[in-house]
Amino acid sequence: MSKKTIIFYFSQSGNSLYVAKKLSATMGNTTLISIPEAIYNNQYKYYNYERIGFILPLYFMSMPNMVEEFISKLEIPKDSYIFSIVTRAITKGRIFHDIETMLNKKGAEINYGEYITFPDSYIKWSGAPKEKTLLKVFQQTESHIYSIANRILNEDTYKEKEGFILKLGSLVVYNIWKSRLKSISKSFKVNNFCIGCGICEETCPTRNIKLENGKPIWLSRCEDCMACVQHCPKKAIYFNSRTIYKKRYINPNIKLDELLYRTRKINDYS
Ligand SMILES: Cc1cc2nc3c(=O)[nH]c(=O)nc-3n(C[C@H](O)[C@H](O)[C@H](O)COP(=O)(O)O)c2cc1C
Ligand code: SF4
Ligand code: SF4
Repeated sequence: MSKKTIIFYFSQSGNSLYVAKKLSATMGNTTLISIPEAIYNNQYKYYNYERIGFILPLYFMSMPNMVEEFISKLEIPKDSYIFSIVTRAITKGRIFHDIETMLNKKGAEINYGEYITFPDSYIKWSGAPKEKTLLKVFQQTESHIYSIANRILNEDTYKEKEGFILKLGSLVVYNIWKSRLKSISKSFKVNNFCIGCGICEETCPTRNIKLENGKPIWLSRCEDCMACVQHCPKKAIYFNSRTIYKKRYINPNIKLDELLYRTRKINDYS
């Protein structure tokens, strides 16, 4: 009987969910848990898993707030094999160092940590790539994910290098981003193309959007994940002028339904 694995994932444009699903299919005997759903359910104890994985995007060279909150509260059984796969567009950062620091406080460590490169979900920086580029990216990631799955099954030990200068620079970038998070909700706007479908509300991991008179309003706990902008079927949401003419990106292998929080049954992938 193969060992049991549990993967906790956070994903707003679908790249990290795509990796989680592919790893799960290749490795077998794996349960997938969405981190925002686990937080809403106040669920931080999971038993009988020998391998624990965290699959998440790189956010300003480290991790999304919700991932930090989740890992800091999660109970980790002794002697678990722990892996983290981080999807990113281009840069490295200090994420494995930061996850490891939290795990060390629980007497655990990362046994395997690696990046996989995907299209950028941060539409403020860039829109979706052309079809041809997408095809190429997915050809490369397919074999990369397969090789990682086999290394995890063999319980290899490996962690991406994060040098001192990279870690220091990343800390500055990350802290500046975090200090601005509270005020960014003010910069979202919605135009008259909005049809009141509620997808923006359902796709927001922090429940930061409420529909009022059929139009979204933003509260004050934004993660800056850009899911509301990316998933609006009418491209009615924009962030300043930085997102207006950019092509939206959702991982082509993931259906919108898989990324909605309220319509999906809790733990659909368990
Ligand atoms: C708020 C935010 C910050 C990001 N910061 C970085 C970064 O520092 N370096 C990088 O290479 N990619 C960065 N990205 C791109 C994502 O890490 C990348 O596209 C990831 O695959 C998205 O995963 P998801 O589709 O599972 O949400 C950022 C994206 C967002 C939304
Ligand atoms: S997803 Fe777009 S169209 Fe739907 S309610 Fe939100 S802003 Fe309006
Ligand atoms: S408001 Fe939009 S950008 Fe902010 S957390 Fe929700 S979905 Fe993400």
